[in-house]
Amino acid sequence: MAWGDIVVGLDIGTTKVAVLVGKVDPDGMLNIIGIGTSPSKGLRKGVVVDIDSTVKSIREAVDKAQRMAGIEIRSVYMGVTGGHISSLSNRGVVAVAREDREITAEDVARVLEAARVIGVPPDREIIHVLPREFIVDGYDGIRDPVGMVGIRLEVEAQIITGSMTSLQNLLRSVEKAGLEVDDVVLNPLASGEAVLLPAERDLGVVVADIGGGTVDVAAFYEGSLCYASVIPVGGEFITSDIAVGLRTPLATAEEIKLEHGCALSDLARDDLFFKVGSVGGQESREVSQKILAGIIEPRVQEILEMVGREIEASGYEKMIPGGVVLTGGSSALKGLGELASRQFGFPVRVGTPADAGGLGDMASSGSFATSLGILRYAARDIVSGRTGQDGTISGMVGSILKYVRNWFRDLF
Ligand SMILES: Nc1ncnc2c1ncn2[C@@H]1O[C@H](COP(=O)(O)OP(=O)(O)OP(=O)(O)O)[C@@H](O)[C@H]1O
Ligand SMILES: [Mg+2]
Repeated sequence: MAWGDIVVGLDIGTTKVAVLVGKVDPDGMLNIIGIGTSPSKGLRKGVVVDIDSTVKSIREAVDKAQRMAGIEIRSVYMGVTGGHISSLSNRGVVAVAREDREITAEDVARVLEAARVIGVPPDREIIHVLPREFIVDGYDGIRDPVGMVGIRLEVEAQIITGSMTSLQNLLRSVEKAGLEVDDVVLNPLASGEAVLLPAERDLGVVVADIGGGTVDVAAFYEGSLCYASVIPVGGEFITSDIAVGLRTPLATAEEIKLEHGCALSDLARDDLFFKVGSVGGQESREVSQKILAGIIEPRVQEILEMVGREIEASGYEKMIPGGVVLTGGSSALKGLGELASRQFGFPVRVGTPADAGGLGDMASSGSFATSLGILRYAARDIVSGRTGQDGTISGMVGSILKYVRNWFRDLF
């Protein structure tokens, strides 16, 4: 955000829009001072399909957050997700510029720029260039080469791309809501930022944020992101299975899921009954939690199988002693962690944003993992003084964003 030490994170999800306002202390501590949410109606599987509804949802959430924080929100860091996201790795190489061979921040910016040079189809845009490791004169495994001495600087980077159309519709919605975008952040990266421990990221770990319409998957190894993808399934599928299975309206099915849902038949009780209204609204029946779990379990298994396939596709399945961390709104489903650990054969834990900065229960649910992660990313930007001009990664994302924005202004 432009003024001082206030940052705003915007997560436009399939089921809700979440806005978090944070204040960054001089010592770098992030405190949440505002939160706003609204039901999201204009998205399907993480992608904007109705701009007007999305604009309305964004405005509603932003208005709530600014009332609570007592500030006016003008610009935001925005999350991006959807099945169109893909990730690939690439290498960049440059010669160190200074005569005394000391590596500077400009060399790092140049080598990251070199890694960006990759054949991206014209309908796709690079969202992030994330360095995995730097290599100086053949010595690998370097995290920060600035200040070191060398002749040849290389980077192994993860390149995240997304569909131009999806990004533009997202940007258009935010701009129509009267906001500027400071930067875009990949949702799986943000969720990892919010719920993973640094030790897990060093060891190797996968985070899966199971939301309403998407599962954001990211693998981390040696501290950095090494794979990311988005699967277009989520909690809404579970709800619609319940609606069909129990012949009840979607809204009732959602209530039943939240109150009595269980992902594991073994854990469900056959002596716990609840009433189910029919679609016509006349008669109501009694159904046991066991029967409900019988409907939920196969769908959750299917979602977890898809996550398992992504872990395989990442090529890191042998390098994640940290196991799998589940978050997102749907990770609150009873029995999910247990089912996942049986299915994956990896250690599994359910993670929520541990440090929600004093807003208590509201922002500590897995539903806020993405927005909190976006906020942390933004706060780090502020703390490291990255203004978008200094040639750092964020600076580059900023310039990509300016490019997308200009491109987009030209179009409309
Ligand atoms: N206690 C619970 N048990 C089961 N499901 C839950 C529970 N609480 C929330 N959910 C589900 O979580 C989903 C919403 O999660 P979340 O807020 O992370 O999604 P989103 O960010 O809006 O969507 P997405 O990330 O997929 O675009 C809904 O499908 C909701 O039914
Ligand atoms: Mg989400």
